[in-house]
Amino acid sequence: MISLGIESTAHTLGIGIVDENGKILADERSIYVPPVGKGMVPREVADYHIKNAQDILKKALESSRLKLKDVDIISVALGPGLPPCLRVGATLARFLALKFGKPLVPVNHCIAHIEIGRLMTKAKDPVVVYTSGGNTQIIAYAEGSHRVFGETEDIPLGNAIDMLSRELGIQPPYGPNFDKIASKGKWIDLPYVVKGMDVSFSGLVTEALKKYKEGKRIEDICYSFQEVSYAMVTEVTERALAHTGKKEVLLVGGVAASQRLQEMMQIMCKERGVKVFIVPRKWSGDNGVMIAWTGILAYKHGQSIKIGESHIRQKWRTDEVKIDWL
Ligand code: ATP
Ligand code: FE2
Repeated sequence: MISLGIESTAHTLGIGIVDENGKILADERSIYVPPVGKGMVPREVADYHIKNAQDILKKALESSRLKLKDVDIISVALGPGLPPCLRVGATLARFLALKFGKPLVPVNHCIAHIEIGRLMTKAKDPVVVYTSGGNTQIIAYAEGSHRVFGETEDIPLGNAIDMLSRELGIQPPYGPNFDKIASKGKWIDLPYVVKGMDVSFSGLVTEALKKYKEGKRIEDICYSFQEVSYAMVTEVTERALAHTGKKEVLLVGGVAASQRLQEMMQIMCKERGVKVFIVPRKWSGDNGVMIAWTGILAYKHGQSIKIGESHIRQKWRTDEVKIDWL
């Protein structure tokens, strides 16, 4: 079975093609980068995706040496994400499914991050730490779905890092540059905010900026921000491990690329006899392959939909998806 997957939930328009063994036949991406110092305007990102869609599809077919008639299913990320962007992928997917008479398979973007992580690392049943620009969730499978054990109460961790970086005048790409600057810093006091199983970063950003205005060094602010925020995520992960008894942790999402986060997780997990898996950087960012692969898992368990049911799902939650394949 061959699946063509379409990702367009935010900045990345990705089209991937995979077979049922997880072999990658195509991986094409086009990523919208906002002007320096500016955030993303959903409408503008969607326009960018519309302009690139035909080209990305053509490249994906060329690199796979397949024709659309050879594809068995069309998988599409219907959410969660930015509505104008979601509509681009959904429209393309509906068109392809209709024109070529293929089943249409809805994929949840967050689940796809988990599934590509499991595919690439061979983790079986991990506590998943999903930290990116758009999400911060500690997730574990239980009784038919991926349950969210803890999450951010306000902004996602990657978003907090990007916001703080912009304010501190750090150049993009913010994540890796923030990481580098932080490695030269010393500790200053910043608030540690874990409430129950949830974390909160907005007060931490505010406090870090206050310290900056008071004249503290950028290196020290980045270092301390990292120490506090990663410790918060690590604490919640440890409690999810204790609660579920699972023996694996899987880091997915863009912030998983952080050396320091990986290190903290390793230390915590070693003490508990838990194995840490880290999604390779290439597969931590948004892409069409993860949608195509999750589409195969979903389709094999009967999760295809009619065109009339393929509305976008802006706030589609991780735990709303029925998982029959674990
Ligand atoms: P999603 O749509 O799943 O929320 P995303 O759009 O945020 O994903 P990703 O590539 O998964 O895209 O994540 C990007 C985030 O990862 C950015 O916020 C960036 O700051 C962060 N990031 C990338 N590299 C690092 C790093 N080395 N250290 C810390 N954060 C990083
Ligand atoms: Fe993503």
